[in-house]
Amino acid sequence: MQETEYTRLLQEVYTDYWQNPEHIEESPRIAGRRMAQVLAQTIQIAHETKMEVTALDLCSGPGTLFRNLLTTYPSRARYTHFITQDIISFSQEQQFTARVSTDVPIRHTHLTGSALQVSLPDGSVDVLTSHFGIDFLERDVFLEVRRLLAPDGVGLFHFHHPVIYNQISESKPEHEALYRYMEETNRIFRNEQEIEETLTRYRLLSTDVFEWSATTWEGEVAWWFTRVRQSIEL
Ligand SMILES: C[S@@+](CC[C@H](N)C(=O)[O-])C[C@H]1O[C@@H](n2cnc3c(N)ncnc32)[C@H](O)[C@@H]1O
Repeated sequence: MQETEYTRLLQEVYTDYWQNPEHIEESPRIAGRRMAQVLAQTIQIAHETKMEVTALDLCSGPGTLFRNLLTTYPSRARYTHFITQDIISFSQEQQFTARVSTDVPIRHTHLTGSALQVSLPDGSVDVLTSHFGIDFLERDVFLEVRRLLAPDGVGLFHFHHPVIYNQISESKPEHEALYRYMEETNRIFRNEQEIEETLTRYRLLSTDVFEWSATTWEGEVAWWFTRVRQSIEL
């Protein structure tokens, strides 16, 4: 498979996936709940120095992560502008904003397009996240992460873990093709060191990186968590 074909397939698979209302309604997954906690804390810390915090979720889908966040921490809506970003556009009814209630209106913008080229100014994002999203793309997506992050901004990521290869044979055929391509192009990080080294190449400093795992009805699942900042240039 070529990169262009993979990109097309990726978009096709997820366009189909989000057509299913059950996927939009999907109850929060363990990984998403944990990330929502870290995100809530990070937004609160950013608010100590900023009146309004800009939080961007790359490859967001309909905003499940922000939905998890606001369900448990609705006060974050008072001082956050939430930006979701995905190759797919979503109707108002599909968006996370239709599924949470907060005491103030949620300030939200959805950007449709590739995470490799986001229509936001340099340094405009205080808290940037992606939950099983950007590691589908070529590594140069981290150029965009670095460009978008404010000088004191924080990035929080969940990446796919090699355990996914054990599940390939049980995946749907379209997903299987995607995972195979990810395997062939070494897109899935194999260990913490590889994450740190990759991010360093993009002038991002990984301040924490570790493996998370959980037992679910699907069996043992695992994923990588990392928190990043811009590396300081002397
Ligand atoms: C596994 S889903 C994760 C969605 C969301 N982060 C969540 O956890 O519910 C991957 C998402 O990446 C999006 N995607 C695929 N290629 C993309 C691209 N080039 N730019 C932006 N988003 C993309 C898909 O449309 C899909 O919504």
